[in-house]
Amino acid sequence: MKKKILVTGGTGYIGSHTVVELQAAGYEVVIIDNLSNSNVEVLKGIEKISGICPTFVQLDCNDKAGLSKMFTDNAGIKGIIHFAASKAVGESVQQPLMYYRNNLVTLVNLLELMPEFGVEGIVFSSSCTVYGQPDILPVTEDAPIKPALSPYGNTKQINEEIIRDTIYSGVPFKSIILRYFNPIGAHPSAEIGELPNGVPQNLIPYLTQTAMGIRQELSVYGNDYDTPDGSCIRDYINVVDLAKAHVIAIERVLGEKSLADVETFNLGTGRGVTVLELINAFETGTGVKVPHKIVERREGDIEKVWANPKKANEVLGWTAQESVEDTLLTAWNWQKRLREKGIQ
Ligand code: UD1
Repeated sequence: MKKKILVTGGTGYIGSHTVVELQAAGYEVVIIDNLSNSNVEVLKGIEKISGICPTFVQLDCNDKAGLSKMFTDNAGIKGIIHFAASKAVGESVQQPLMYYRNNLVTLVNLLELMPEFGVEGIVFSSSCTVYGQPDILPVTEDAPIKPALSPYGNTKQINEEIIRDTIYSGVPFKSIILRYFNPIGAHPSAEIGELPNGVPQNLIPYLTQTAMGIRQELSVYGNDYDTPDGSCIRDYINVVDLAKAHVIAIERVLGEKSLADVETFNLGTGRGVTVLELINAFETGTGVKVPHKIVERREGDIEKVWANPKKANEVLGWTAQESVEDTLLTAWNWQKRLREKGIQ
């Protein structure tokens, strides 16, 4: 058995896929999650795939005493992958203090407790949102950080600064910051996937719900951008590919190999896809039509962003494997599974 890893937010979308990959690589996993945006049933899906039910503690990372007790009860945690956070851009504009508490205080609590419990490394979930609209595409890790467009985006920037300042102060642990582009899709088994609460804000769950007939029509936010078909461009990355990058990152941060005490990597495919291309790829791959209409631009949207993933490719030895087309099929299979279960 390899080392014990704490996954915060481990019943969430990216967290649950990462738990599966950690278990496949032989790690022992402890999940903490406050279940504010996920369901405890996810544990069953994880167990179906891997045959192992991870240890689960329902806990909010704001609860420092609770965290301390969890580290004592689960002695020997060597690394943390920190997903737990609030992530709805619009909501963060309405409730900024909730975002600052949920996304900043939680990280500070973990960083403060790490030396006390001998935790040697932390992998942090950041986002390409820190680049804003990059001046040069594809965007590399040394591109300038642009002023955040929302409290959510700001928390990711501040989180990164908190980590760097802490590491530079000489603490006895290391960190890897992962900047995700747009994670989509589901596990190929369709046992776990994205489970949005209420009306989805993100493109793929809205698209698959529309294809299923749950939503009448998908709104495409703008077709007058400076892109080949006028709709926005993103770099859509398969969630299992993304999860695998976390296994490499935790191995690296806990390993003997020399690395800078804090490193940052883009996790994307390197391919930019427009919203209309994505809808088209979904319709072609599944044979299911997605009713859609062009509407006004969405406030705060970035026109185009896609990754230069060369650093992750070369330094981590990680490359996104799955095509957008195949990934869309996994998202559709997951939506169909939810229907079978009577969930959505
Ligand atoms: C957003 C956040 C990003 C965050 C991520 C987390 C912004 C600017 N960025 O990414 O920081 O990490 O969510 O979930 O808010 N679209 C439609 N119709 C829809 C929904 C989306 O056309 O109903 C378009 C959007 O205009 C965008 C693309 O689809 O071009 C992707 O949107 P979305 O899935 O919401 O992700 P981001 O906005 O890229």
